Amino acid sequence: MTLRVGQVGLGYWGRNLARVFDDEADLAWLCDASEALREEFGRRYPNARVTGEFTEMIASDIDAVVIATPVPTHYPLAKAALDAGKHVFVEKPPAMRVAEMEELIGLAEAHGLVLMPGHLLLYHPGVQKLKELVDAGELGEVLVVYGNRQNLGKIRKDESALWSLGVHDLSVILYLLDEDPELATAQGSWSIHEGVEDVVFCFLRFSSGKIAHMHLSWLDPHKMRRMTVVGREKMVVFDDMEPERKVTVYEKKVDPSGMAVSGDIQIPRIANAEPLRLECEYFLELLDGKHDKAKVARDGARVVRALEMLTNSLDHG
Ligand SMILES: NC(=O)c1ccc[n+]([C@@H]2O[C@H](COP(=O)([O-])OP(=O)(O)OC[C@H]3O[C@@H](n4cnc5c(N)ncnc54)[C@H](O)[C@@H]3O)[C@@H](O)[C@H]2O)c1
Repeated sequence: MTLRVGQVGLGYWGRNLARVFDDEADLAWLCDASEALREEFGRRYPNARVTGEFTEMIASDIDAVVIATPVPTHYPLAKAALDAGKHVFVEKPPAMRVAEMEELIGLAEAHGLVLMPGHLLLYHPGVQKLKELVDAGELGEVLVVYGNRQNLGKIRKDESALWSLGVHDLSVILYLLDEDPELATAQGSWSIHEGVEDVVFCFLRFSSGKIAHMHLSWLDPHKMRRMTVVGREKMVVFDDMEPERKVTVYEKKVDPSGMAVSGDIQIPRIANAEPLRLECEYFLELLDGKHDKAKVARDGARVVRALEMLTNSLDHG
């Protein structure tokens, strides 16, 4: 049976989600506060009902709600959708506070519903390869993970670099290490929009001894989308700016006598699939009873928990 999906938020990112959900499911309802967008999307998807009222959409017979509105609206919209008995795909992060995220998880569990945060990178075949290498012990004990997400670009007025860019890298770091940080600190500054940090440096320490770092910036000459994992035996780099060489595995390590050793460099083949499509398919598969829906929601809570720690640190200098 084709699943009936309703989507709220048809802006910059929402149009991508609508395109894929229209391909993969029955995009039955569309909702946005903007009249101009309602008109545009009504023309583009003539079979969908279009409304400016979220309550009208969730009162309909749709199976699931896709939320692609600004971050502060995620929690109230997701809560209303779950209360109405709908499965929810919500852009990252689903809530701004841990207590709100826990409430959403409680609602989803109580009603047997899917609550999937839109952590796009987790469905990227390059990140899947990193996870495979880490879990198979290919790199030896993982010591350090660090992310670079820099660009001179899309400067947001209402989300800091930590909230807009950092969520991506944080989701990957926590997914790879499968551990909550015991310490998470952040320092940053703003120079464009008052109070909205455009450059942020984050440091995380885990009880296993692993450490992680994130450099997040909209003020940078380089466009970088890179994650580096340093293990005792090998090191690996995922570089999303590379068209073909997305993942590179370096046989580089320090041997027991303290000597640096360099061996082969390998470039595993990475499937050229669209991460967004894989992410949406995963959501629809969850609705179909596949995968572990509780884990998907709990992994999202882990990200919100670390974000809250980093935000507190950033706010208090
Ligand atoms: N996964 C990714 O790679 C990725 C990339 C970009 C943005 N995002 C996320 O997508 C979300 C949307 O970002 P965007 O850049 O598309 O924002 P945007 O401002 O371009 O679009 C948001 C839309 O939501 C509508 N809206 C807001 N509140 C509403 C409400 N209560 N009811 C109905 N419509 C409402 C607005 O009218 C607007 O059209 C954010 O959470 C953002 O973090 C994710």
